[in-house]
Amino acid sequence: MSDFQAPKGVPDYLPPDSAQFVAVRDGLLDAVARAGYSHIELPIFEDTALFARGVGESTDVVSKEMYTFADRGERSVTLRPEGTAGVMRAVIEHGLDRGALPVKLRYSGPFFRYERPQAGRYRQLQQVGVEAIGVDDPALDAEVIAIADEGFRSLGLTGFRLELTSLGDETSRPQYRELLQEFLFGLDLDEDTRRRAEINPLRVLDDKRPHVREMTADAPLMLDHLSEGAKEHFDTVLANLDALGVPYVINPRMVRGLDYYTKTTFEFVHDGLGAQSGIGGGGRYDGLMKQLGGQDLSGIGFGLGVDRTVLALRAEGKQVGEAARVDVFCVPLGDLAKAALLPLAGALRAAGVRVDLAYGDRGLKGAMRAADRSGARIALVAGDRDVEAGTVGVKELGTGEQVDVAADAVVADVLARLV
Ligand code: HAM
Repeated sequence: MSDFQAPKGVPDYLPPDSAQFVAVRDGLLDAVARAGYSHIELPIFEDTALFARGVGESTDVVSKEMYTFADRGERSVTLRPEGTAGVMRAVIEHGLDRGALPVKLRYSGPFFRYERPQAGRYRQLQQVGVEAIGVDDPALDAEVIAIADEGFRSLGLTGFRLELTSLGDETSRPQYRELLQEFLFGLDLDEDTRRRAEINPLRVLDDKRPHVREMTADAPLMLDHLSEGAKEHFDTVLANLDALGVPYVINPRMVRGLDYYTKTTFEFVHDGLGAQSGIGGGGRYDGLMKQLGGQDLSGIGFGLGVDRTVLALRAEGKQVGEAARVDVFCVPLGDLAKAALLPLAGALRAAGVRVDLAYGDRGLKGAMRAADRSGARIALVAGDRDVEAGTVGVKELGTGEQVDVAADAVVADVLARLV
């Protein structure tokens, strides 16, 4: 056992598998960039109060899972548990919402939640996310959902489904909340669940215990009590998704772990992952910007789980991403040869060729083994005597054929071979 291990619940991505991680992250980001979202790079930690107010005090994320600490100046800071609150903070702080709307932003990186680690549930998780802020248009909801769907499909993922519902607007929400509470308070609930029904009744519908499930089977559903405006918004989102050819199922009992959602709310679920089946999720948030001290503008976005998408692809037996390999491997035999091949490797790299070199003087046999392992097509082999003669051996590793090439013609020779 080594002296140190990675923190509990935090994955390392090592070669060659790390290539999959990069391919998933970049594939999801590419799909987003094709729809005109600009990159935003934000702090990994923020003022603790931002998340308490933005994500919601009653959520598990805020009440149980935050990495919160006092910095050396006695400020309470928190490692970001999600991306939306930070994006909103930056948009308000820098006045991005005073320009053309919607503000379309994308981001990727690590987020931190002190959850109970298990397969697919990490304490440092990676997301690719977007936020489209300032326009309350159901067509934009459909776009956001469609680019997530396209991102997963572009990676070759197929075994997932999109679940969708509406959590209502400021007219329908309070009325429904009362209705649901009335229903829940009529049940024989334990103390804890009752308290939850008081603070956030929707969350009781997400209770996984069978006896609670049974009791809440006939609970009133938000979807049946939408205001006219919210219903029209939702129906238009569905019509737009149909037009875009994005398949979905409506799940009126969906409950998300963050408090800011209103209207369209969605999750991408993969069946090959066991309990942690959510590979992405998001929705609209009407009140968030105002809540954080900004204008009263709506927004919509998503976070896609890069770690879980890697696992989902593996569950489907699909390979994405190419492990790092090189085109050319240099084998210097002697100090003079090394001094000559090192700048040659540099010149080839500058010409766009992927090149590695055998370091550490391990002799011809060891160096040729390293060349084979590197996946290179060509080896450049030279001893000190070749250098004195002004030549380098160019060897095709596939066939074993080798010719001597004048040192100053090697770059051109290699480029010609690689086309
Ligand atoms: P979220 O549903 O909390 O939403 O997280 C989004 C995705 O991150 C999940 O679907 C899952 O794939 C991944 N994820 C979350 N927690 C973990 C974990 N512990 N281990 C591995 N993967 C995890 C948000 O974070 C919102 N900010 C999304 C959003 C953006 N909504 C609107 N805009």
